Amino acid sequence: MMVDTVHDIVLREMAPGELILVETIHATAFGRDEEARLPHAIVSAGYDVISVVAVDGDYFVGHALFTALDGAEKALALGPVAIVPDRQGEGIGARLVRYGLDLARQRGWRSVFVLGDPGFYGRLGFRANLAKGAIVPWAGPNFQAIELVPGALDGWSGVLVYPDAFGAGDEQD
Ligand SMILES: CC(C)(COP(=O)(O)OP(=O)(O)OC[C@H]1O[C@@H](n2cnc3c(N)ncnc32)[C@H](O)[C@@H]1OP(=O)(O)O)[C@@H](O)C(=O)NCCC(=O)NCCS
Repeated sequence: MMVDTVHDIVLREMAPGELILVETIHATAFGRDEEARLPHAIVSAGYDVISVVAVDGDYFVGHALFTALDGAEKALALGPVAIVPDRQGEGIGARLVRYGLDLARQRGWRSVFVLGDPGFYGRLGFRANLAKGAIVPWAGPNFQAIELVPGALDGWSGVLVYPDAFGAGDEQD
Protein backbone atom coordinates (compact mmCIF):
# COMPACT_ATOMS: atom_id res chain seq x y z
CA MET A 1 0.00 0.00 0.00
CA MET A 2 1.22 3.51 -0.79
CA VAL A 3 -0.15 6.75 0.68
CA ASP A 4 0.28 9.86 -1.40
CA THR A 5 0.83 12.58 1.16
CA VAL A 6 0.02 15.42 -1.24
CA HIS A 7 -3.48 14.26 -2.13
CA ASP A 8 -4.06 11.72 0.67
CA ILE A 9 -4.79 9.23 -2.06
CA VAL A 10 -4.16 5.63 -1.08
CA LEU A 11 -2.94 3.30 -3.82
CA ARG A 12 -3.46 -0.36 -3.00
CA GLU A 13 -4.61 -3.69 -4.34
CA MET A 14 -8.34 -4.17 -4.73
CA ALA A 15 -10.08 -6.41 -2.20
CA PRO A 16 -12.41 -9.08 -3.69
CA GLY A 17 -15.59 -7.42 -2.37
CA GLU A 18 -14.70 -4.16 -4.11
CA LEU A 19 -15.39 -5.29 -7.68
CA ILE A 20 -18.77 -3.57 -7.69
CA LEU A 21 -17.19 -0.23 -6.72
CA VAL A 22 -14.61 -0.65 -9.43
CA GLU A 23 -17.33 -1.27 -12.03
CA THR A 24 -18.85 2.08 -11.14
CA ILE A 25 -15.54 3.85 -11.75
CA HIS A 26 -15.31 2.44 -15.28
CA ALA A 27 -18.98 3.00 -16.05
CA THR A 28 -18.71 6.71 -15.18
CA ALA A 29 -15.26 7.25 -16.75
CA PHE A 30 -16.06 5.53 -20.06
CA GLY A 31 -19.78 6.36 -20.13
CA ARG A 32 -20.63 2.82 -21.27
CA ASP A 33 -20.71 -0.68 -19.85
CA GLU A 34 -18.14 -2.63 -21.89
CA GLU A 35 -15.12 -1.69 -19.79
CA ALA A 36 -17.14 -1.79 -16.56
CA ARG A 37 -17.97 -5.47 -17.06
CA LEU A 38 -14.41 -6.55 -17.88
CA PRO A 39 -12.90 -6.66 -14.36
CA HIS A 40 -15.70 -8.88 -13.05
CA ALA A 41 -15.54 -11.19 -16.08
CA ILE A 42 -11.77 -11.56 -15.85
CA VAL A 43 -11.48 -11.93 -12.08
CA SER A 44 -14.35 -14.41 -11.86
CA ALA A 45 -12.82 -16.50 -14.68
CA GLY A 46 -9.82 -17.03 -12.39
CA TYR A 47 -7.11 -15.26 -14.39
CA ASP A 48 -3.92 -14.21 -12.68
CA VAL A 49 -4.40 -10.46 -12.22
CA ILE A 50 -3.02 -7.40 -10.48
CA SER A 51 -5.95 -5.13 -9.68
CA VAL A 52 -5.12 -1.76 -8.15
CA VAL A 53 -7.32 1.02 -6.82
CA ALA A 54 -6.87 4.68 -5.87
CA VAL A 55 -8.95 5.59 -2.83
CA ASP A 56 -9.58 9.01 -1.30
CA GLY A 57 -11.12 8.46 2.12
CA ASP A 58 -14.20 6.34 1.46
CA TYR A 59 -14.32 7.36 -2.17
CA PHE A 60 -12.97 5.08 -4.90
CA VAL A 61 -11.45 7.35 -7.54
CA GLY A 62 -9.51 5.00 -9.82
CA HIS A 63 -8.87 1.45 -10.92
CA ALA A 64 -6.40 -0.34 -13.19
CA LEU A 65 -6.38 -4.01 -14.10
CA PHE A 66 -3.39 -6.07 -15.27
CA THR A 67 -4.21 -9.56 -16.60
CA ALA A 68 -1.87 -12.44 -17.47
CA LEU A 69 -1.44 -13.08 -21.20
CA ASP A 70 -0.34 -16.19 -23.04
CA GLY A 71 2.14 -16.00 -25.88
CA ALA A 72 5.01 -14.02 -24.35
CA GLU A 73 6.93 -14.99 -21.22
CA LYS A 74 5.39 -13.49 -18.05
CA ALA A 75 3.44 -10.82 -19.97
CA LEU A 76 0.48 -8.80 -18.73
CA ALA A 77 -2.27 -6.84 -20.46
CA LEU A 78 -3.11 -3.49 -18.87
CA GLY A 79 -6.74 -2.42 -19.08
CA PRO A 80 -9.18 -1.12 -18.41
CA VAL A 81 -7.75 1.94 -16.62
CA ALA A 82 -10.09 4.64 -15.34
CA ILE A 83 -10.23 7.63 -13.04
CA VAL A 84 -13.63 9.05 -12.06
CA PRO A 85 -14.44 12.11 -14.21
CA ASP A 86 -14.28 14.70 -11.44
CA ARG A 87 -10.77 13.59 -10.44
CA GLN A 88 -9.16 13.27 -13.88
CA GLY A 89 -6.12 15.36 -14.72
CA GLU A 90 -4.72 15.38 -11.17
CA GLY A 91 -2.00 12.85 -11.90
CA ILE A 92 -3.81 9.98 -10.16
CA GLY A 93 -4.03 7.79 -13.28
CA ALA A 94 -0.30 8.06 -13.93
CA ARG A 95 0.55 7.23 -10.30
CA LEU A 96 -1.89 4.31 -10.22
CA VAL A 97 -0.44 2.74 -13.38
CA ARG A 98 3.13 3.23 -12.08
CA TYR A 99 2.12 1.59 -8.79
CA GLY A 100 0.71 -1.42 -10.69
CA LEU A 101 3.84 -1.63 -12.84
CA ASP A 102 6.03 -1.66 -9.69
CA LEU A 103 3.97 -4.47 -8.16
CA ALA A 104 4.18 -6.42 -11.42
CA ARG A 105 7.95 -6.00 -11.59
CA GLN A 106 8.33 -7.14 -7.96
CA ARG A 107 6.28 -10.24 -8.76
CA GLY A 108 8.43 -11.30 -11.68
CA TRP A 109 6.33 -10.10 -14.60
CA ARG A 110 8.54 -9.18 -17.56
CA SER A 111 6.41 -7.01 -19.86
CA VAL A 112 3.05 -5.23 -20.07
CA PHE A 113 0.97 -4.54 -23.21
CA VAL A 114 -1.71 -1.86 -23.51
CA LEU A 115 -4.07 -0.47 -26.14
CA GLY A 116 -4.58 3.22 -25.47
CA ASP A 117 -3.59 6.80 -26.11
CA PRO A 118 0.20 7.16 -26.49
CA GLY A 119 -0.25 10.68 -25.04
CA PHE A 120 -0.99 9.07 -21.69
CA TYR A 121 0.89 5.76 -21.85
CA GLY A 122 3.99 7.16 -23.61
CA ARG A 123 4.77 9.28 -20.55
CA LEU A 124 4.71 6.13 -18.47
CA GLY A 125 7.30 4.44 -20.68
CA PHE A 126 5.07 2.44 -23.04
CA ARG A 127 6.32 2.29 -26.64
CA ALA A 128 4.58 1.09 -29.82
CA ASN A 129 7.86 -0.28 -31.21
CA LEU A 130 8.17 -2.68 -28.27
CA ALA A 131 4.76 -4.16 -29.18
CA LYS A 132 5.51 -4.53 -32.89
CA GLY A 133 6.16 -8.27 -32.65
CA ALA A 134 2.72 -8.95 -31.18
CA ILE A 135 0.12 -10.53 -33.41
CA VAL A 136 -3.21 -9.17 -32.10
CA PRO A 137 -6.40 -7.88 -33.75
CA TRP A 138 -5.75 -4.37 -32.37
CA ALA A 139 -2.16 -3.94 -33.60
CA GLY A 140 -1.26 -0.36 -34.58
CA PRO A 141 0.19 2.86 -33.17
CA ASN A 142 -2.02 2.71 -30.06
CA PHE A 143 -0.85 -0.77 -29.18
CA GLN A 144 2.16 -0.35 -26.91
CA ALA A 145 4.33 -2.27 -24.49
CA ILE A 146 6.76 -1.67 -21.67
CA GLU A 147 9.58 -3.94 -20.54
CA LEU A 148 9.71 -4.51 -16.79
CA VAL A 149 12.92 -6.45 -17.29
CA PRO A 150 15.28 -4.75 -19.77
CA GLY A 151 15.38 -6.65 -23.05
CA ALA A 152 12.34 -8.78 -22.15
CA LEU A 153 10.79 -8.24 -25.59
CA ASP A 154 14.06 -8.18 -27.57
CA GLY A 155 13.57 -10.20 -30.73
CA TRP A 156 10.24 -11.54 -29.52
CA SER A 157 7.29 -12.00 -31.82
CA GLY A 158 4.18 -14.15 -31.63
CA VAL A 159 0.46 -14.36 -31.10
CA LEU A 160 -0.67 -12.79 -27.82
CA VAL A 161 -3.65 -14.58 -26.34
CA TYR A 162 -6.06 -12.44 -24.34
CA PRO A 163 -8.80 -13.73 -22.06
CA ASP A 164 -12.05 -14.23 -24.02
CA ALA A 165 -13.70 -11.43 -22.05
CA PHE A 166 -11.58 -8.84 -23.89
CA GLY A 167 -13.30 -9.75 -27.14
CA ALA A 168 -11.32 -9.66 -30.38
CA GLY A 169 -11.62 -6.29 -32.07
CA ASP A 170 -13.10 -4.42 -29.10
CA GLU A 171 -11.43 -1.23 -27.97
CA GLN A 172 -9.70 -1.72 -24.65
CA ASP A 173 -7.59 0.69 -22.65
C1 LIG B 1 -7.08 8.37 -19.24
C2 LIG B 1 -7.14 8.43 -17.72
C3 LIG B 1 -7.02 7.04 -17.11
C4 LIG B 1 -5.93 9.28 -17.25
O1 LIG B 1 -5.94 9.41 -15.84
P1 LIG B 1 -5.76 10.85 -15.19
O2 LIG B 1 -5.60 10.70 -13.73
O3 LIG B 1 -6.85 11.73 -15.68
O4 LIG B 1 -4.40 11.28 -15.89
P2 LIG B 1 -3.16 12.00 -15.21
O5 LIG B 1 -3.65 13.24 -14.51
O6 LIG B 1 -2.39 11.03 -14.41
O7 LIG B 1 -2.35 12.42 -16.51
C5 LIG B 1 -0.98 12.17 -16.67
C6 LIG B 1 -0.53 12.90 -17.92
O8 LIG B 1 -1.12 12.30 -19.09
C7 LIG B 1 -1.87 13.28 -19.79
N1 LIG B 1 -3.11 12.64 -20.23
C8 LIG B 1 -4.09 12.17 -19.46
N2 LIG B 1 -5.05 11.60 -20.21
C9 LIG B 1 -4.65 11.73 -21.48
C10 LIG B 1 -5.21 11.35 -22.71
N3 LIG B 1 -6.38 10.67 -22.83
N4 LIG B 1 -4.53 11.66 -23.84
C11 LIG B 1 -3.35 12.31 -23.77
N5 LIG B 1 -2.76 12.69 -22.62
C12 LIG B 1 -3.41 12.41 -21.49
C13 LIG B 1 -2.15 14.39 -18.82
O9 LIG B 1 -2.27 15.63 -19.49
C14 LIG B 1 -0.94 14.35 -17.92
O10 LIG B 1 0.11 15.11 -18.46
P3 LIG B 1 1.01 16.08 -17.52
O11 LIG B 1 1.70 15.16 -16.56
O12 LIG B 1 1.91 16.75 -18.49
O13 LIG B 1 0.02 16.99 -16.87
C15 LIG B 1 -8.43 9.13 -17.21
O14 LIG B 1 -8.48 10.44 -17.69
C16 LIG B 1 -9.72 8.37 -17.61
O15 LIG B 1 -10.18 7.55 -16.84
N6 LIG B 1 -10.29 8.71 -18.77
C17 LIG B 1 -11.52 8.07 -19.21
C18 LIG B 1 -11.36 6.59 -19.43
C19 LIG B 1 -10.27 6.29 -20.44
O16 LIG B 1 -10.25 6.85 -21.52
N7 LIG B 1 -9.38 5.33 -20.10
C20 LIG B 1 -8.40 4.85 -21.04
C21 LIG B 1 -6.99 5.28 -20.80
S1 LIG B 1 -6.19 5.89 -22.34
